[in-house]
Amino acid sequence: MKILVTGGAGYIGSHTCIELIKAGFEVIVVDNLCNSSFESLKRVKILADCDIPFYNVDICDKPALIKVFKKHSIDGVVHLAGLKAVGESVEKPIKYYNTNVGGTFILTDVMCEFNCKTIVFSSSATVYGDPQTVPIKENSPLSAKNPYGRSKLMIEEFFQDIFATDDSWRIALLRYFNPIGAHKSGLIGEDPNGVPNNLIPYISQVAVGKLEKLSVFGGDYDTPDGTGVRDYIHVVDLAKGHVKSLQALKNKPQVFIVNLGTGKGFSVLEMIKAFEKASKKKIPYQIVDRRLGDIAICYADPTFAKEKINWKAEYELNEMCEDTWRWQSLNLDGYPRYK
Ligand code: NAD
Ligand code: UFG
Repeated sequence: MKILVTGGAGYIGSHTCIELIKAGFEVIVVDNLCNSSFESLKRVKILADCDIPFYNVDICDKPALIKVFKKHSIDGVVHLAGLKAVGESVEKPIKYYNTNVGGTFILTDVMCEFNCKTIVFSSSATVYGDPQTVPIKENSPLSAKNPYGRSKLMIEEFFQDIFATDDSWRIALLRYFNPIGAHKSGLIGEDPNGVPNNLIPYISQVAVGKLEKLSVFGGDYDTPDGTGVRDYIHVVDLAKGHVKSLQALKNKPQVFIVNLGTGKGFSVLEMIKAFEKASKKKIPYQIVDRRLGDIAICYADPTFAKEKINWKAEYELNEMCEDTWRWQSLNLDGYPRYK
């Protein structure tokens, strides 16, 4: 089965390509490299020991996408291409809606033209907003708080509408919790542009000496130690969730939504401790004001993912930190930037 991976050069995409190839899928990648480097794909090819056709294409460029679909008879799409910085989405909503929502419309249109009706889409736990209860089930109330989150919700609704009018589609909407970690080889991992927004990339750059100290955003949340709690999931487990979704979609046309999380929440202070243990480095930190828009606590109920796609996260927190550390310490400045 030939799978087009949009955003396949990115953090989650590169790991997903490897798991897809391991499971016997043929992979083709489109990515405009706006937040990634071709080097990640070069390394994926080494790790997967096979060639991966790559197209430097923007998902908003319909004629270019059509060319890719003409060249390869694509059976399904794993759609990860998109912009993901919450803060930037507040400043540049048009850019976010154009790329995330507009790009998805164009991609889907092209899929229809080629009668390709299988898609796995990367949604996010951000669609739950500030959850009223945890663990969060798929039918918990939805409330996105920023343009990024709303773009994900709109796309989810768009795909539900598509299925409502044409029930021959096979659609998986995956709500990721907080992906961290890296491939065991240390060859591929998360490579944010500039100063990282997310906790683990920030901590790992402190550990490696690139940043001086971590600011812990808020020490007065209603959580056991006052700091924010999240469901961190190993990116390889997450990648395997895409394989399992495609396998589940094979059974029959359907649309489903699943949480991809571990079901366990860890606080910022617990994450610092775990990372210190994995890296054997001290992480200096100070507690500062809360970050605007942050929530106290968020972790998944992963029961339905087990039922629906026979998937369960396997990696524990220590391995997530060890693998992040291996990637960061072997690649001090991430991938070489020759785009
Ligand atoms: P990433 O930025 O590493 O990967 C996204 C990839 O898409 C990049 O390689 C980028 O160059 C590419 N891209 C962006 N706009 C494009 C366009 N117009 N045309 C073609 N390619 C384009 O991010 P990631 O962490 O791997 O995230 C992948 C997906 O998962 C995104 O849709 C993101 O919103 C979603 N997601 C990520 C997280 C997370 O915490 N990392 C959480 C929930 C959901
Ligand atoms: N945090 C700090 N200091 C930092 C960065 C983060 O204390 O420098 C704290 C946050 O306040 C939060 C926790 O660490 O309590 C995790 O923050 P991240 O920024 O790593 O992750 P978020 O849960 O805020 O958001 C991420 C993605 C979203 C996605 C969400 C759920 O950025 O896009 O996970 O998948 F929607």
